[in-house]
Amino acid sequence: MKTVKDFDKKLKDLLTENPVVKQKASQLHIEGADPWNLYLHTAWENLGNLSIESASIHDLWAIKEWYEGLTFRSRHFISIFPMDYRIEKYIAMHLKKSWQRKILAYNAWVNETVIGHFFVEDLEKKPIIALGLADPYQKNKLGYLFIAMMINTLRILGFKCTYLTTMHENKTAFQFYKKLGFTLLGDTKVPVAGFDYHTDEYEMRIDLDKFQ
Ligand SMILES: CC(C)(COP(=O)(O)OP(=O)(O)OC[C@H]1O[C@@H](n2cnc3c(N)ncnc32)[C@H](O)[C@@H]1OP(=O)(O)O)[C@@H](O)C(=O)NCCC(=O)NCCS
Repeated sequence: MKTVKDFDKKLKDLLTENPVVKQKASQLHIEGADPWNLYLHTAWENLGNLSIESASIHDLWAIKEWYEGLTFRSRHFISIFPMDYRIEKYIAMHLKKSWQRKILAYNAWVNETVIGHFFVEDLEKKPIIALGLADPYQKNKLGYLFIAMMINTLRILGFKCTYLTTMHENKTAFQFYKKLGFTLLGDTKVPVAGFDYHTDEYEMRIDLDKFQ
């Protein structure tokens, strides 16, 4: 993956001109030479101090705590790790892919707690975004912020479009993505982490310059 000059400045410029981010975030501070070394700090409306950082192996236990703390419904919608003795291994494998720069992975922190995790997979072929927020932090535009960060980072890296998948029953997420400019491509099979089966999910796509 090529490096980008002034990554942090470019991301800050793009986020600062976004109307939702402008309304919700004050004192937006971003630093990081590239998308794998990102640190963002802001004061988010109705929340206060929020940090978003590139995820590393040091975050394994904090990510585990976030994932295990999700309600069963939210966890079902973002089934990325098995909920059994293999969970730590799967989180470590996920973080290793970020360390190898095969994916982009970020944690959102409030104090010492991870309250959200989001990532872009398959950077070498077809970028696919995914995100999840701890239940008490949902519905405060943080999901929007995570997507804005991923889309603008992909733009800076030179990508033209991105994809995501969402479960048929996740009506909230489906409407949310449609509102942002994603279009439905049809059904796709998504493997269930840790198990030998898959779910049929909607696949959606957006041209990055159509994001709103
Ligand atoms: C889906 C998810 C990422 C959305 O993030 P969020 O921070 O809660 O959403 P936002 O506050 O940014 O809201 C964005 C839009 O989503 C829609 N939305 C969010 N929550 C909603 C709800 N409970 N009911 C209806 N619409 C909702 C609205 O259109 C909203 O825009 P509006 O406020 O202008 O009406 C988050 O709820 C989540 O993590 N859910 C559990 C895991 C999950 O479903 N992940 C996605 C897998 S595909």
